Amino acid sequence: MRSASKFPVTKSNDQPAELLLDAQKLTVNYGEVQALKGASLSVQSGEICGLVGMNGSGKSTLFKAIMGVTPAEGQVLIDGQTPTQARKLGLVSYVPQSEDIDFTFPVSVRDVVSMGRYGRLGPTRRLKAADRAAVDEALERVDLLDLAHRQIGNLSGGQRKRAFVARGLAQGARLLLLDEPFAGVDKRSETMLVSLLRQLRDAGAGVLISTHDLANLAELADTAVLLRNEVLLSGEPGAVLAPENLVRAFGMNPLGGSGV
Ligand SMILES: Nc1ncnc2c1ncn2[C@@H]1O[C@H](COP(=O)(O)OP(=O)(O)OP(=O)(O)O)[C@@H](O)[C@H]1O
Ligand SMILES: [Mg+2]
Repeated sequence: MRSASKFPVTKSNDQPAELLLDAQKLTVNYGEVQALKGASLSVQSGEICGLVGMNGSGKSTLFKAIMGVTPAEGQVLIDGQTPTQARKLGLVSYVPQSEDIDFTFPVSVRDVVSMGRYGRLGPTRRLKAADRAAVDEALERVDLLDLAHRQIGNLSGGQRKRAFVARGLAQGARLLLLDEPFAGVDKRSETMLVSLLRQLRDAGAGVLISTHDLANLAELADTAVLLRNEVLLSGEPGAVLAPENLVRAFGMNPLGGSGV
């Protein structure tokens, strides 16, 4: 059973948990808009952390600040490395919210998944047999081998999400950042993604996942973070998602009921 302490994760292989994401006091301003204010959070190996907050609460901004793709005050360490180093070393894989991805880009599904291997390639930038095998295995695990030749934009929404998760699988990243991977996906894709995330978690990865699916969060995540441009609360999902906390985060209880 998982405890409700700050670092509640017991990994299945009983290895001591490692701090894979340490984000401290992240502040992001877009001109006049303060999208993120002093947000701190951590994710350990063997932990799925659910990021919850209403539209505009800064979830996507937090992912971008962690990846170092938007200017932020504060400090981020990914497996002890700066975001730039971590990206170079392939330690982190980021699946942006669909709206942030250019699907007209002329690359195939296999190309997208192969990008997960780029950090490992030598100066020739050529995929070796082991890279191709890792790409095939990742495609197989998300059931996209048959569609590997398709241009990425010619997949359905759920299939696209699976393609980007496959890129993270092929990469073997220690930390996965998934911005609303369940938005617009059907039950089959969702079940496949959840099962993959659990396998990765059990193999020692850390996962930070934003979702609006509050009803299923306690089942999926080991920890939860409630965001309203600042971190309101973090800890065990059942406690974080208590009605009074949801009212603070959303101004109402999105799960229904009287709220407080
Ligand atoms: N490039 C930008 N320029 C100016 N303001 C921005 C920009 N990106 C986001 N914002 C603003 O920053 C705030 C946080 O946005 P963000 O996209 O991080 O929210 P979110 O929690 O991901 O929302 P959603 O659930 O709708 O995806 C919002 O007020 C948004 O309007
Ligand atoms: Mg967002």
